[in-house]
Amino acid sequence: MNYNKQIDSRGVATITMNRPELHNAFNDEMITDLVKCFKELALNDSVRLVVLTGTGKSFCAGADLNWMKKMKDYSFEENLLDAQKLAELFTVINKFKKPTIARVNGAALGGGAGLLACCDYVIAVDTALMGFTEVRLGLLPAVISPFVIAKIGESQARATFMNGVRFNTNRAMMMGLVHQISSFDKLDEDLEVIINDFLQAAPMASCMAKELIAEVVRKNTIEDARIYTCEMIAKVRTGSEGQEGMNALLEKRKASWL
Ligand code: COA
Repeated sequence: MNYNKQIDSRGVATITMNRPELHNAFNDEMITDLVKCFKELALNDSVRLVVLTGTGKSFCAGADLNWMKKMKDYSFEENLLDAQKLAELFTVINKFKKPTIARVNGAALGGGAGLLACCDYVIAVDTALMGFTEVRLGLLPAVISPFVIAKIGESQARATFMNGVRFNTNRAMMMGLVHQISSFDKLDEDLEVIINDFLQAAPMASCMAKELIAEVVRKNTIEDARIYTCEMIAKVRTGSEGQEGMNALLEKRKASWL
């Protein structure tokens, strides 16, 4: 199997990419498997959040170059279809309604760095190298670009896409690709704190917060966003979670989801 999946009693699902001998580089089979896995988790009501990580030394070395090389003998249409499958993987993760956390255990390069851009929170081990290395192979960070540019902005994309430079976690954090740096020994302890922070949130409100961000980004002006944001808060404050959360605070008790 190209990945392992575990769901604990709290509803924390962990997907571990599992091709360590190739630094978890993904081929067509692994892409199909991961898409299926994320789609199944999206339908599982008991899941509260997803952690994505890798087995072995690296998080993910991007596309499997043996698979990419093989595509030379395929037609343009076949290559297009293949690229669309890859785009589906990034889209499924990016649009995943519940929180997604990347636990970056090592190098995240090319499409591997693209995966980080699709997750809500990224914690990385301090030794992890990152980069959009595609141009150094005569390729392009094309499919990942909408997700990465949305995350790091045009300026950082120009500074890193055009030279394919590898950078450390400090630079990745400055760019907004990584949110927290940890040591190898403390990675799981620090991850637990992050998971607990996400689990404090009312489950529906947490998902709606992600939807809110995506929708506000799509609006051109603050005025455009106004109707939508007013409707959102009007809806949630009268909803069951909003009422429960406010009552719990006023009554000095724990909310039902805790
Ligand atoms: N696709 C296919 N195979 C890959 C790969 C990839 N993306 N990345 C690494 N491998 C393979 C290597 O070819 C090597 O195979 P071998 O054992 O048959 O020689 C094996 O994984 C180990 O890699 P190696 O480079 O020896 O390990 P390392 O620990 O020194 O470095 C990386 C690990 C991930 C930093 C390094 O392999 C690397 O930079 N890979 C390329 C990543 C990249 O640019 N990806 C973008 C793709 S578009």
